[in-house]
Amino acid sequence: MFKNKKVLVTGGCSFIGSHLVESLVLDGAHVEVVDDLSSGCLDNISSVINKIEFIKGDLRDGSIAAKCTKQKDIVFHLANIHGGRGFIETHPGEISQNFLIDGNVFYHSHLNGVERICYTSSACAYPTTLQSADIARQERYLSEEMADPFREGAALADGEYGWAKFMGEMALKAYNKQFMQKGVSCRLFTVYGPRENESHAIIAFIAKALTQQDPYEIWGSGSQDRNFTYVSDIVQGLKLATTKITDCRSVNIGTNEITKIIDAVRVVCDLVNHSPDKFNCDMTKPEGVHARAASTKNQNLWLNWEPEVSFQEGILKTVNWYRNHRTIEEMKNIVSNKLFDR
Ligand SMILES: NC(=O)c1ccc[n+]([C@@H]2O[C@H](COP(=O)([O-])OP(=O)(O)OC[C@H]3O[C@@H](n4cnc5c(N)ncnc54)[C@H](O)[C@@H]3O)[C@@H](O)[C@H]2O)c1
Repeated sequence: MFKNKKVLVTGGCSFIGSHLVESLVLDGAHVEVVDDLSSGCLDNISSVINKIEFIKGDLRDGSIAAKCTKQKDIVFHLANIHGGRGFIETHPGEISQNFLIDGNVFYHSHLNGVERICYTSSACAYPTTLQSADIARQERYLSEEMADPFREGAALADGEYGWAKFMGEMALKAYNKQFMQKGVSCRLFTVYGPRENESHAIIAFIAKALTQQDPYEIWGSGSQDRNFTYVSDIVQGLKLATTKITDCRSVNIGTNEITKIIDAVRVVCDLVNHSPDKFNCDMTKPEGVHARAASTKNQNLWLNWEPEVSFQEGILKTVNWYRNHRTIEEMKNIVSNKLFDR
C-alpha cells in the first residue's frame, strides 16, 4: 500500500507521528513531514531525517496546508494542539484552533486531489456520560456508533479537544458524502511509549517513580481506568485502517486490556523498585472521565487485526527508554513545574 507512494504526515515530529514516519520510510514510501515544532521536535525523526522531506510550517495558515498537500497520494493528519489532561483542560482557546488546522488540511487535501486521508481522532470524541462512574449509565466498551453527531444522545464529546476531534470526523465524512473523498478517522485510545512527554499519564508516572516521589501523587481517585495502547500498535492500526477503510467512517484503535490508574502506578513503581509509603490521591487535579475502553469488535471485523503489545511489555520498553532519555534532575524539575505543559 505505501511503497513508492507520496505520503504527507502532518505533525510528523510528534510522539506518535515520528514512529509512523519511521515505519512508512521502512515501507518504502516517499515521506514529507510538516510540523511547526510547537510540541514535536526534530530529534524525534533524527533516524530518518535524511530520507524524508521536512517543512517547518504552521497549519493554521492555509497557504502552508495548500503547499504541503500538493502531489500527495496519502495524508496522515496528526498535527494538533494537544497535550495531556492538564494541558487540554487549561488551554481551551488554543485547543479550539484545531478546528482551523483540520479545516485547512481537509480543504487543501481535497483541492489537491489527495487520494486518501487518515485522521487521528480520539476516544475523547465519545460522550462523557457513557464513561461515568455510574454503572447504570456507563458503557464498559465504547463502540463506534456510540459517538454520532446525527443521533440524539450520542454527542457529548470530552471538552473542546474532544469536540474538535468529533467535528473533524464529521467534516471528513462530509467530504466523503459530497466529493467521494476517501479516508478514515481513527479514534486512538490513550497511547503511550517512547518519545511521549510527561504531560501524559504514563510518562508522568514513570518520572515520579524514578525520582522516588513520596507521598506519590496521583491525579484524581486513582480508580479511573483506561486501555493504554502501545505506540507500535497504534502505528500498525493507522496504516491498516488507511489501507482497508475508504468511506471516512470512524474506527477505534486500542486494546481491550483495561487498567486502573492506581494499578498502572503500581506496575511502574514495581519496575523501578520504588515503594512509596503513601499514595496521595489529589482530587483538585484533573482526572478525566472515570471509565474509558475501546470496543475492539469493529477493529477486528474491519481491519482483521488486534493490538499485540501487553501493558506489562509496553511499560517495560517505555521505562527503559525514559531512564536513558532524561537525568533525574530534569525529571524532578518537570514533575514539580511542567505537568500542565505539552
Ligand atoms: N497521545 C495520545 O494518547 C493520543 C490519543 C488520541 C489521539 N491522539 C492524536 O494523535 C496525534 C499525535 O499526538 P501525539 O500524542 O503524538 O503528540 P502531539 O499531540 O503533541 O502531536 C501534535 C504534533 O502537531 C504539531 N503541531 C501542533 N500545532 C501545529 C500547527 N499549528 N501546525 C503544524 N504542526 C502543529 C506539534 O508540534 C506535534 O508535533 C494528535 O492529533 C493527537 O490529538 C493522541
